[in-house]
Amino acid sequence: MKKVVVLTGAGISAESGLKTFRDSNGLWEEHRIEDVASPEGWYRNKELVLDFYNQRRKQLLACNPNRAHFALAELEQMYDVSIITQNVDNLHEAGGSTHVVHLHGELLKARSTEYEELIYDWQKDMVIGDTCERGAQLRPHIVWFGEAVPKMDEAIPLVRQADIFIVIGTSMVVYPAAGLINYTSYETPKWLIDPNDMPLPRIPNLKFINEKATVGVDYLVKLLLQE
Ligand code: OAD
Repeated sequence: MKKVVVLTGAGISAESGLKTFRDSNGLWEEHRIEDVASPEGWYRNKELVLDFYNQRRKQLLACNPNRAHFALAELEQMYDVSIITQNVDNLHEAGGSTHVVHLHGELLKARSTEYEELIYDWQKDMVIGDTCERGAQLRPHIVWFGEAVPKMDEAIPLVRQADIFIVIGTSMVVYPAAGLINYTSYETPKWLIDPNDMPLPRIPNLKFINEKATVGVDYLVKLLLQE
């Protein structure tokens, strides 16, 4: 089976009703990254941070996967598919994809602030006083700006093995995720799907599908399933 590796960002979940970060009206227009998505913000005001992710979690629980998530799951009929996502939602899994690497963590998980290995499934609001089994405060299981991205160790070898590489709905400005495309090999066909014009990475064998995810991913998956 050929290996397809897909890198996704907030754009793939936009049509499920979740806001992106940097589009107009995006999340980073309403909230300051340093307040809600950094270790410094957490030390300054834990309640503000918890409230931000409580809102995100509530919104996510009211959302469903869209055509793009489902189409990527269908691709598994003919390909060995790995999805590397910057998204903290669970819509790839809900759409049926079986191999998903969450580079930036998961909204439906909580983690101990003291014992990083203690991670729990979490659906309700998180408040001050919610603790791990060893008594330390819990925090959202999210990679904040300035923190290490340990899942890169899993993502890089996957990208190196890709026979086909697809990028969907990401502005490609947040590193190290944005650098993953540089681990593809020269001859690997690469596809980029985004409805907005963007500076394309100067990479060989790259094709741009200038469509929303539901349209562009559906088109590409149909094409790949015919091969
Ligand atoms: P961005 O908000 O930076 O970029 C979203 C991209 O999706 C843009 O290129 C849009 O043009 C595109 N887009 C919008 N609607 C779309 C649609 N219907 N279909 C397909 N694409 C669409 O989001 P990310 O690149 O995911 O990290 O942001 C990367 C990281 O920055 C996030 O994981 C998050 C954020 O800060 C953390 O919070 C740690």
